[in-house]
Amino acid sequence: MAFLWLPLAVVAIFLLLQKLQKKFSKKKKILPPGPRKLPLLGNLHMFGDNLHQDLNKIAKKHGPIMSIHFGLVPVIVAFTPYAAEQFLKTHDLTFSSRPSNQVSENIFYKRKNLVSARYGPYWRNMRKLCTLQLLSSAKILAFQPMRKQELGILINFVKQAAMEHKVVDLTAKVGSLSANMSCLMIFGKKYMDEDLGEKGFKAIIQDMLHIAALPNFSDFFPFLRIFDLQGYNRRVKELAKLFDEFLERVIDEHVGESNEQKQAKDMVDTLMEILQSGAAEFEFDRRHVKAIMLDLLIASMDTSLTTIDWILTELLRHPDVMKKVHNELEQVVGKNRMVEELDLESLEYLDMVIKECNRLYPAAPLLPPHESIEDCTINNFHSPKGSRVLINI
Ligand code: HEM
Repeated sequence: MAFLWLPLAVVAIFLLLQKLQKKFSKKKKILPPGPRKLPLLGNLHMFGDNLHQDLNKIAKKHGPIMSIHFGLVPVIVAFTPYAAEQFLKTHDLTFSSRPSNQVSENIFYKRKNLVSARYGPYWRNMRKLCTLQLLSSAKILAFQPMRKQELGILINFVKQAAMEHKVVDLTAKVGSLSANMSCLMIFGKKYMDEDLGEKGFKAIIQDMLHIAALPNFSDFFPFLRIFDLQGYNRRVKELAKLFDEFLERVIDEHVGESNEQKQAKDMVDTLMEILQSGAAEFEFDRRHVKAIMLDLLIASMDTSLTTIDWILTELLRHPDVMKKVHNELEQVVGKNRMVEELDLESLEYLDMVIKECNRLYPAAPLLPPHESIEDCTINNFHSPKGSRVLINI
């Protein structure tokens, strides 16, 4: 019988070693450093209105990749270009997904938009479709006459107001310019305030951006979701209904409409052509069209306004810089014609001003959050599957 004990002992020792090795390697999985968390709350008590600035202050003690907890949800934050590169370039496939939330599920048709799509075949197909068909250089160039015309309307308004010594609210004017350009590019026509809900088009878009940026406690404490203590889920569902009715109306207006008189096909035309021809080669119906329409509208309107608003503010605060911009414009363009988009590549100083303002006042300082689809090691730190990642630019 002794000959039986020997192989059994070898197998037992082997299994024991394997278990010990697993235990040992588990111990080696160290999360990035971060502040001490409170039970349940995590680190929520450390943040005020400006999350990106508060995170920056805390990171000074912990380094360029930091672990924190929003309630029960673990979050990893990257602070330097090298750290960001680790998540967005070196391990891009692991971190390309976005976390699900009430806004992406309800307003964006269960994450059928680009910004919050889950990484996978749909994510790849939809990006390819948008890159080739909606946001190609040829498509963007085709809208150039429209952009010139809209800018001309604003310049004439400001000229007239200057002659009459009237005060102009430039933020409101640039906001309308951005909204009109986005609407013309996406829907082919401008939409007025009365076209969306009782509050009006721009106010509803602002509501949507506000709610998307607002912390939803049900996301941090999933067991609270059914109580909807902030009324967050109710507001999201109301907005989803308003947007859906509006987007359905836009699609109905496009179906059966002739494109012949149009200067350039708008983006809904292109999306509806793909839908009707069945050329997409992946599941693509009205929900996908609506999700992409809304994505483009939300992604383009406020980012452009915020960026231009800050550039104008900083130029007014720094007359010496404004003077240099004027001098360059006089040299490159002269005083007898409007600046054209083609001039932009020769306006090097203006380009630097824009880049510096983007650095100082990025439109989305934390970028939309990412979520990992598998375990990963970053800079010798462990990032477990499902980690949320914020890039603090
Ligand atoms: C000054 C203007 C703009 C700024 C500052 C800006 C900024 C950004 C930022 C920071 C992101 C997130 C990138 C990331 O998480 O990796 C983004 C994504 C996006 N933007 Fe813009 N954007 C601007 C204009 C526009 C315009 C005009 C459009 C549409 C015509 C647009 C469409 C999009 C789309 C579709 C995405 C999602 C891309 C993806 O998830 O892969 N943006 N933008």
